[in-house]
Amino acid sequence: MSVVPLAPPRIQVILASTRPGRFGEKPAAWLMDRLSTRTDLDAELVDLRDHPLPIFDQPAPPAHTLRDYPNEAIARWGRTVDEADGFIVVTPEYNHGYPASLKNAIDHVFPELNRKPITFVGYGNVGGARAIEQLRLVAVELEMAPLRHAIHILPELMMSAMKANTFTPDLFAPLDGRLDVAAADLAWWANALAAARAESAIGP
Ligand SMILES: Cc1cc2nc3c(=O)[nH]c(=O)nc-3n(C[C@H](O)[C@H](O)[C@H](O)COP(=O)(O)O)c2cc1C
Repeated sequence: MSVVPLAPPRIQVILASTRPGRFGEKPAAWLMDRLSTRTDLDAELVDLRDHPLPIFDQPAPPAHTLRDYPNEAIARWGRTVDEADGFIVVTPEYNHGYPASLKNAIDHVFPELNRKPITFVGYGNVGGARAIEQLRLVAVELEMAPLRHAIHILPELMMSAMKANTFTPDLFAPLDGRLDVAAADLAWWANALAAARAESAIGP
């Protein structure tokens, strides 16, 4: 018997940069604006600034300890991502990689991410492509499904969004078409994997 999800999948937009004056807020605002008009998913912004965690210092990896949270900060982060059916990570590129804030947050959880799809919005000199490629590899270790369709914000668009006197999500309108494709694909995978997770939880 197949399980049909009753509600649109819950998609978390993870804002990875936590530094003052971060650019990442702008693409995150564009994403939330555009995703709010879609009926095939429910989007929620998750800002890593709201989940400050120490550099990972636990005696055992979350792949072993699972949801046995050692403190409230980690429990709150774990319970947050547990609620998602899929993720869009908004990431900068720092020294050709993704930021330590994001890796640290990822390392604090494991089963909460398993068997969920993830895609990416990157920005920088090569649209965050190097950071995104690395994240795809890490996502596999988290037993996630990294998707092909990602969004790369290249310097020309990044600069015009940075220089604009007044920010409006429409500054990223040239990427609306790419977002449509990526969001539809993410919703498909989120539905498919939510149904599969529910079936395996029910058992034969
Ligand atoms: C530590 C550091 C390293 C950076 N390395 C890169 C890089 O490798 N490639 C790149 O395209 N931009 C790089 N940049 C520039 C970032 O793209 C730019 O600062 C961007 O605004 C960072 O995102 P954020 O403002 O959301 O934190 C780097 C910035 C910082 C702070």
